[in-house]
Amino acid sequence: MYNSRNLRQVNEDTFTYVIDRNRDFKILQLTDLHLGFGLFSKRKDKLALEAVRKIIAKAEPDMIVLTGDSIFPFLPKAGTLNNRKQAHKLMEFMDSFAIPYTLVFGNHDCEMGSTCNKEELAQIYKTGEYCIFTEGKKNLTGTGNFLINLTDTDGKVLLPMVMLDSNMYGEGGWFYSGFDRIHDDQVNWCMEKLDDLKKNNPEVKAMTFFHMPPAEFKEAYRKMKLGDKSVIYQHGSIAEKNEYFGISKFHGTFFERAVQNGIIKWMFCGHDHINTLSLIYKGIQMTYGMSIDYLGYKHIDKSYIQRGGTLITRKTDGEITVKMVPLGAVVSTRVSGVKKGKNNAEE
Ligand SMILES: [Fe+2]
Ligand SMILES: [Fe+2]
Repeated sequence: MYNSRNLRQVNEDTFTYVIDRNRDFKILQLTDLHLGFGLFSKRKDKLALEAVRKIIAKAEPDMIVLTGDSIFPFLPKAGTLNNRKQAHKLMEFMDSFAIPYTLVFGNHDCEMGSTCNKEELAQIYKTGEYCIFTEGKKNLTGTGNFLINLTDTDGKVLLPMVMLDSNMYGEGGWFYSGFDRIHDDQVNWCMEKLDDLKKNNPEVKAMTFFHMPPAEFKEAYRKMKLGDKSVIYQHGSIAEKNEYFGISKFHGTFFERAVQNGIIKWMFCGHDHINTLSLIYKGIQMTYGMSIDYLGYKHIDKSYIQRGGTLITRKTDGEITVKMVPLGAVVSTRVSGVKKGKNNAEE
């Protein structure tokens, strides 16, 4: 666990992290690294690690958030099922930057047949020298539901960061049953935690990080394309083939509850590697992080418009800006999807 006088674990699901309110605080979202650390992935891992180094050097963040699919224990592509080794390697790599980081799980961090389950991975990440992580409440769905409340030196919460496990697959728990979602018990937990913060500070606004997009992201995109002016385009594009969104077929309540609750103003996800869109819908800015993957999607190593990170800056006056940090010189800003490549095989 990151050992800093600024970080305190208040209880099983909450950290506070003191920041200097007189300077900007920069959070870098990185997503879908899909690191293999196996027999078949050496060349692509090298490219991914080099890309991460470049993006971190460019962004100079104060904190890094990995939004899932960080490791990829998928035998045909990585050449290993050993996600214990992968987690250790990832952690060593992230620790080398000496910047505090945190993470949520994606649907690939624990593939079927991999060495460790999420609870075991959680125990590994908790040992990271710069890692801020906890498995959270044991009775909740998923592993790693917790808050990092950024506070000022007086303990006033400036920005709650909610980390959520959007789980893996639906009924039966395997790939072909479709993607899962954030479950209702997690939604209740999240809203209760934020309501508590609201009691002390009615103005508080929160940001959330999880792997898979809510269905309302797709709904908003469709509305925007039809000319609905209530959806506000921010940046990026939907470039997955056939404008694909890897959403759950199960009804998730997270977005609608967030709208009702009114505290959550930002949601950051990954999962769809070629999508980089950010828009505001019903008062919530939903953002697909730029991704790093070289290994997951077929031929993605030849693709570049999506590759990078996403920089979230809390300005000294409390304003939040969200910007793409592209690895290369070109980014896609087309609102409609481009049908090129065969890149949407797996998320
Ligand atoms: Fe994914
Ligand atoms: Fe992924």
